[in-house]
Formats: sequence, structure tokens, C-alpha cells
Amino acid sequence: MNPDDKVCLCFHVTRRKLVNWTRLHKPKVPSQLSACGGAGTGCGWCIPFLKQIFRQETGSAPADGPALDALSAEEYARGRAGHVAAGMGTPPPGAEPT
Ligand code: FES
Repeated sequence: MNPDDKVCLCFHVTRRKLVNWTRLHKPKVPSQLSACGGAGTGCGWCIPFLKQIFRQETGSAPADGPALDALSAEEYARGRAGHVAAGMGTPPPGAEPT
């Protein structure tokens, strides 16, 4: 995933925006990243990746699961489509197609 790829597809929040927001606001817990454009408050697919960004930027424990750097934007979007199709989350109205 590149900096300008969207991590939260539901709310169109890019990786760059999340990284910059985290550096600026210094959140104490990963869930505070939801204050960055509502990231993570839709289907929930991006939550593990928000945690990854939090951990990378705050120097806390290493993230588990596939790293954002190892995924293309297309792979990431396919993963999210599978997440939604499996009934694990519902995107908000107007969100990018699944
Ligand atoms: S992709 Fe972030 S909440 Fe759906």
C-alpha cells in the first residue's frame, strides 16, 4: 500500500492522512484513529490496519497480520470485499463498492 492508497475504504481515508494524524495527535490507543475522518467506523475491515499504523507510529509492539507494505491496493480492496461479503461488516451508505 502506498501513502495515497485508502486504508479506510468506507470513509476514503488514506494511509498518509492516518500516519500524519497519528504523528500530530499522538493518540494513546488505536481506537482514537477514528477521529481521523471516521476511519474504522464503517465495515470494520481496516481496524487491524489502523492498529498497525498506530503501532508503527507510536513505537509500541509490532503489529500482527499482513503488513500494509506487503499488500497492493487491489489485494487490500479484495480482502475488504471478502470481509463484507462474509457478513463481517456493513459499509455505510455511499461507501465505495465492495
Ligand atoms: S474500510 Fe474502514 S471501516 Fe470499512
